[in-house]
Amino acid sequence: MAEIKLDSLIKSYGPDQVLHHVHADIEDGEFVVIVGPSGCGKSTLLRMIAGLEGITSGEVSIGGKVVNGLEPADRDIAMVFQNYALYPHMSVRQNMAYGLKIRGLPKAEIDRRVQEAAEILEIGAFLDRKPRQLSGGQRQRVAMGRAIVRDPQVFLFDEPLSNLDAKLRVQMRLEIRKLQKRLGVTSIFVTHDQVEAMTLGDRLMVLNGGVVEQFGTPIELYDRPETVFVAGFIGSPAMNFLPATAEGGVVTLDNGASLPGAGGVSGPVTFGVRPEHLVPDAQGPIRVQVQVFEALGANTLVHGVLEGTGTELVVSLPGHETPAPGDVLHYAAPSEHHHLFDAESGARIAP
Ligand SMILES: Nc1ncnc2c1ncn2[C@@H]1O[C@H](COP(=O)(O)OP(=O)(O)OP(=O)(O)O)[C@@H](O)[C@H]1O
Ligand SMILES: [Mg+2]
Repeated sequence: MAEIKLDSLIKSYGPDQVLHHVHADIEDGEFVVIVGPSGCGKSTLLRMIAGLEGITSGEVSIGGKVVNGLEPADRDIAMVFQNYALYPHMSVRQNMAYGLKIRGLPKAEIDRRVQEAAEILEIGAFLDRKPRQLSGGQRQRVAMGRAIVRDPQVFLFDEPLSNLDAKLRVQMRLEIRKLQKRLGVTSIFVTHDQVEAMTLGDRLMVLNGGVVEQFGTPIELYDRPETVFVAGFIGSPAMNFLPATAEGGVVTLDNGASLPGAGGVSGPVTFGVRPEHLVPDAQGPIRVQVQVFEALGANTLVHGVLEGTGTELVVSLPGHETPAPGDVLHYAAPSEHHHLFDAESGARIAP
C-alpha cells in the first residue's frame, strides 16, 4: 500500500515562506493533480515529496512511513520531469535499464522489465536509437518507461507534457491516465493547465501563493468552488464575476438589475455565474453589451460588459450566431447556477 500523507508542510527559502501548512491524504492508487499558476509552489511541493528539496517543517509519509529523513533513492518513487532528463549518449534501452543496473538487478530481470515497459508504451521498435533520433512524444514515452521499469510505489510528474504540441499533449495525457489506472500506482502530477488537471486527476489540489485553496474531485471544484480563486481558475471560459449586493433573497447588480436567489445572504458580494449557465432570454435581467466575439464553430463566445458598467463578462451563443459590437444581449441566470462569494475575502458564502 502506498498512500501518501502530507502533514502541515511548510517550506521557506530564507525569510520567504513559499508553502503554508499543506495537508493532504492521498489514497493508495489515487491520481492527484497539483494545479495552480506559475510560482505558486507546485514543483517545490513535489520535490519535497521526492526528497529533492528539504522540508522546513511538517511531515511526508509514504505507505505509512515518515520519509523526511530518507534520501530520494530510498523513497521508492519514480519521477518524470518536464525535460525528460534522458542521457543523450545512451540508447533508449540503456536509458531505461540504467537505474536498475545501478541498483544491481540481475541482467535477465532488467531485460524482462525493459521489454515489458517497451510493450506497454509501444516503443519496442526504437529501443536501440538515441534520444536525439526520437520525436518529442517518443522521448516522453521513454521517460515514462524509465519510471515504469523501476516498479515504484509512487509516480511523481512535473509538467511532463509541456514540451509537446497541443494535439500530442491531449493524446499523451489520455495515455498517462490509462496507464496509471492499469498499473494502479499512486501518482501525483503537477501542471499549470486546468484542463489537463480536470481530465487527469481523480482529485485536484488547487495551490495559490503556497496555500491550498481547495482539494477535491474535478466536479466538486467545478460545481462548488470554495473561493473566487478556484472559481476563476477551474472551468473554461472562466466564470463571470459581478460586484453585487445581496438583500432579502435578491441579488442586485451594479447597474441596478436584480435577480432572485441570494439565499439568506446580505451585504456586498461577488456574484459568480459561468458563461455556459447563462441562458438567452428576452426578459432576462443580465444585459450584456457586445464588444468582440470568438466564433468557435460549435458556439460563439461573446466578450462584453454588463450594460451601464465597466464590468467585463463572457457569454456563449449557440452555433454560428454572430452579434455586432454594441448589440445588447439579454440573459437569465438560473439560481441553481449562482455562486456567491464574500466581496472582501473571496470565500464562498452561498449556496
Ligand atoms: N531555490 C530557491 N530559492 C529561493 N526561492 C525559490 C527557490 N526555488 C523556488 N523558489 C520560489 O518558490 C516559489 C515556488 O516555486 P515553484 O518552482 O515551486 O513554483 P511552480 O508552481 O512550480 O511554478 P511554475 O509553474 O512556474 O513551474 C517561487 O516564488 C520561487 O521563486
Ligand atoms: Mg514548476
